[in-house]
Amino acid sequence: MRQPISSMPGVFQLSPDELLREAEKAHALGVPSVLLFGIPETKDAKASGAYAKNGIVQQAVRLLKKNLPDLLVITDVCLCEYMSHGHCGIVDPKRGQILNDPTLKLLARSAVSHAEAGADIIAPSDMMDGRVRAIREALDETGFGDTPILSYAAKFASAFYGPFREAAESTPQFGDRRSYQMNPANAEEALREVALDIQEGADMIMVKPALAYLDILQRVKTEFGYPTAAYSVSAEYSMIKAAAANGWIDERAVTMESLLAMRRAGADVIITYSAVDAARWLKS
Ligand code: PBG
Ligand code: ZN
Repeated sequence: MRQPISSMPGVFQLSPDELLREAEKAHALGVPSVLLFGIPETKDAKASGAYAKNGIVQQAVRLLKKNLPDLLVITDVCLCEYMSHGHCGIVDPKRGQILNDPTLKLLARSAVSHAEAGADIIAPSDMMDGRVRAIREALDETGFGDTPILSYAAKFASAFYGPFREAAESTPQFGDRRSYQMNPANAEEALREVALDIQEGADMIMVKPALAYLDILQRVKTEFGYPTAAYSVSAEYSMIKAAAANGWIDERAVTMESLLAMRRAGADVIITYSAVDAARWLKS
């Protein structure tokens, strides 16, 4: 199954067999790694699909690692795609608030289930407080002490995630994510969040979105000198695609210049929906 995402031309929801085909193609072009997001068959209020032994991500990881052992497989750990209400954590049904601490257990369970399936790197994107420590402890206790954590450490409550929420079918059914994601106006908080995640055991940290937050990226890289990833998010991709489709910009030049800017600002790793295009352009 290949289901196009209308707000992200060229991006698809993929069944595991199609994912394998896509990953083979990407890997052959020189893309070293993939980041997986899952869309379960059914959603509920405890995100059961996130930590199901045979959940969609767990299946996909097993398939990829079996067929493409050299492809680095990173899994996004979050609950929003599996929750009936679309939030990244457990919701108190009475007050409609996100419950931080009860959520940690489910995140840790999800992380362990991904590691058991063979994930190379665990990437928590939920932004609950204390989740890096909870996941680190759970991985250590279950024999995955060597599995690294790439933490979405500085993740802002951004309008640039719009197209992704269509892709992942994870738009919150009520409210927004501002109680757990960061205020775009606050740079100092981003540095504090990164410091905490490093203290809690993150092996790599991420700044997200990328292009509108290059100042944060540069400060994080300079301040901590830590392996740092930039996540160029869905709207960054879709804006280029839309303008290019209208003939207003040169897609290849704008994409490569954007990626270059992220690298210049300090990114050691770039997560981008343009990875396959960029790999092809770099080869040609
Ligand atoms: C889920 C998650 C989101 C993205 C990555 N993981 C969406 C969100 O927080 O609403 C955004 C990715 C993108 O826009 O490309 N926690
Ligand atoms: Zn989420």
